[in-house]
Amino acid sequence: MTSKEIRQKFLEYFEKHGHAVVPSSSLVPDDPSVLLTTAGMQQFKQYFTGELDAEKDFGSKNTVSVQKSFRTSDIDEVGDENHLTFFEMLGNFSFGGYFQEKAIKYAYEFITKEMGFEIDYVTIFDGAKLPEGDWRKTGTVPDQQSYEAWRKIFSAEGFSETEFSKHKIRREGVDNFWGPTGSEGPCGPTTEIYMKNIDGKPIEIWNIVFNQYYCDKNKNLTFLETFGEDLGQVGIDTGMGLERLVMVVQGTPTIFETDLFAPIIALLPDEVPVRVKRILADHVRGIAFLIVDGVEPSNKEVGYILR
Ligand code: SER
Repeated sequence: MTSKEIRQKFLEYFEKHGHAVVPSSSLVPDDPSVLLTTAGMQQFKQYFTGELDAEKDFGSKNTVSVQKSFRTSDIDEVGDENHLTFFEMLGNFSFGGYFQEKAIKYAYEFITKEMGFEIDYVTIFDGAKLPEGDWRKTGTVPDQQSYEAWRKIFSAEGFSETEFSKHKIRREGVDNFWGPTGSEGPCGPTTEIYMKNIDGKPIEIWNIVFNQYYCDKNKNLTFLETFGEDLGQVGIDTGMGLERLVMVVQGTPTIFETDLFAPIIALLPDEVPVRVKRILADHVRGIAFLIVDGVEPSNKEVGYILR
């Protein structure tokens, strides 16, 4: 299956299940708390908080998109098997519509039924593992609903109670609490889905966030005060790395042999070391997409990233 077909399949699956297809927003967001768009949820921040009404604007409480994203935080890891600066994020979203159980069911069905692949294991948020004094303190309730949703699914697949707790459903701490983007915004516990690549290595493919808090790190309050604000409505924010999914589907050991990168890598001379080739391929894509979204090289902010 080509990357183009995978993108299409994702959009069609969620459209079929009542999600409005929304185009990617620009890599340069309106949101002043961030320099670049780092996640699919960013263009929807005000729908999560209820300031804007998705039903009115998109004709549905649920949306789906393929979002251009750029993360400088991963730049030092670019060149390994699966890290990038620029990437595409497949995401389904709900603003006061469905929550944990349905989001998990959709993800499971998409991977196993639509794509015909297996989930290696999933992680869920086990609040108790947050270190004492962590600013995410109000999120410290273990996410039992997600556990139950996955348990139901894996039981139906024939896995035993021992297998859930040992391998299939793993409890994690801070890593399974996502957000906010930039200094403030919606956030919440997550469940992450891992699939094996061709070499049998588990790769994090999909992050499903159960938005239910609003965090404003600027306020400089105590943890509970900062983080105690309920979002008012629950929301679903999911992000699946297209390049990683394509790697699993096309059975390549790294994202750089997929049809998204192989043509770029093929243009580089053989004597260029592999890691350098990968870095060049990543940066060339990132640069092209930044320029398309109007960024010019300069010595500050987003212009500096391009330069
Ligand atoms: N916002 C979450 C992420 O970026 C899920 O989309 O991982």
